[in-house]
Amino acid sequence: MAAAPALEPPVCMEGQILENRVIAPVTRVMKVHAPEAAARMHAGQFVNLLTSAERVPLLRRPMSIHRLVRHHEVASGFYVLYDVVGPGTRNLARMKPGEKVDFVGPLGNAITVPPAARRAVLVAGGVGVGPIKAVAEDLLARGVRDVTVCYGARDYDHSIPVKEAAPDGCRVLVCTDDGSVARKGRVTDLVEDLLRGGRLAPGDYVFACGPHAMFRALRDQLRPFGIAAEAATEEFMGCGFGVCFGCPLRQRQPDGSVAYRLCCVDGCIFPLDTLVFDGDPA
Ligand SMILES: Cc1cc2nc3c(=O)[nH]c(=O)nc-3n(C[C@H](O)[C@H](O)[C@H](O)COP(=O)(O)OP(=O)(O)OC[C@H]3O[C@@H](n4cnc5c(N)ncnc54)[C@H](O)[C@@H]3O)c2cc1C
Ligand code: FES
Repeated sequence: MAAAPALEPPVCMEGQILENRVIAPVTRVMKVHAPEAAARMHAGQFVNLLTSAERVPLLRRPMSIHRLVRHHEVASGFYVLYDVVGPGTRNLARMKPGEKVDFVGPLGNAITVPPAARRAVLVAGGVGVGPIKAVAEDLLARGVRDVTVCYGARDYDHSIPVKEAAPDGCRVLVCTDDGSVARKGRVTDLVEDLLRGGRLAPGDYVFACGPHAMFRALRDQLRPFGIAAEAATEEFMGCGFGVCFGCPLRQRQPDGSVAYRLCCVDGCIFPLDTLVFDGDPA
């Protein structure tokens, strides 16, 4: 049986920005001091950030918890990692250390790691690298010593340094779509190498975050081997807490039927094999 942590309700509060630094041409990390909220956070969850005091953008922007900050085992804050892609993230990029940022969190469910897992493979496509460091740190803290991160980025501008993607103690494999950093290829090519080399097998813990196309490819790759995975989905969101029905996903039920689930409250983490994507058989 997988060990699911007990989740506490989110809080809405202001945290103090301690850092907001560039780690790749398109990508930033923000460190937020918020002890009350951080004490409730688990790897795999997300926060919903208010990016402006103005009416636009009205909606908060969801971001995965990239890392938890701990001092002597006491949680004091969190990091988010974000690509600057639109008005909300442009506003985030303008925020300065010392300023406050309003957020709701933690939201969503957390990773569930089978207690018997001794090895883990974390698969990140693009900005899906957001939650990877928190997940890797959680696994190392649980005693999972063999952790491999497979990270695929689009190109140089979207590729973050290895030390930002994963904590010390992990093996990190990198590729880019255009070969401008590390090997040219898709992140599933890195997974293929692990499968062929016997470095990924049933019983290993697999966590993935990225676009639907990556999820589909990974699912089809792992299924013949009988390897389960957890998928952290990142659907467009409105409210972030189950009210607007703006973040639906399709999930295969045990009786074979397909039901709609909400990314924000039923996830954002789902068993990969249960998700139904566009193009899948009905
Ligand atoms: C649970 C969750 C966790 C997330 N974690 C992160 C994270 O750690 N780091 C990060 O950078 N982003 C993350 N995102 C995505 C992020 O919330 C969006 O990119 C956000 O909308 C950007 O706001 P914006 O105003 O800058 O751009 P917008 O104007 O909202 O969007 C800019 C462009 O990105 C596209 N876009 C927006 N949201 C999504 C999405 N969910 N999927 C695919 N395309 C999208 C839009 O179509 C548009 O082309 C997460 C989303 C969810 C739901
Ligand atoms: S974002 Fe509103 S229901 Fe999920």
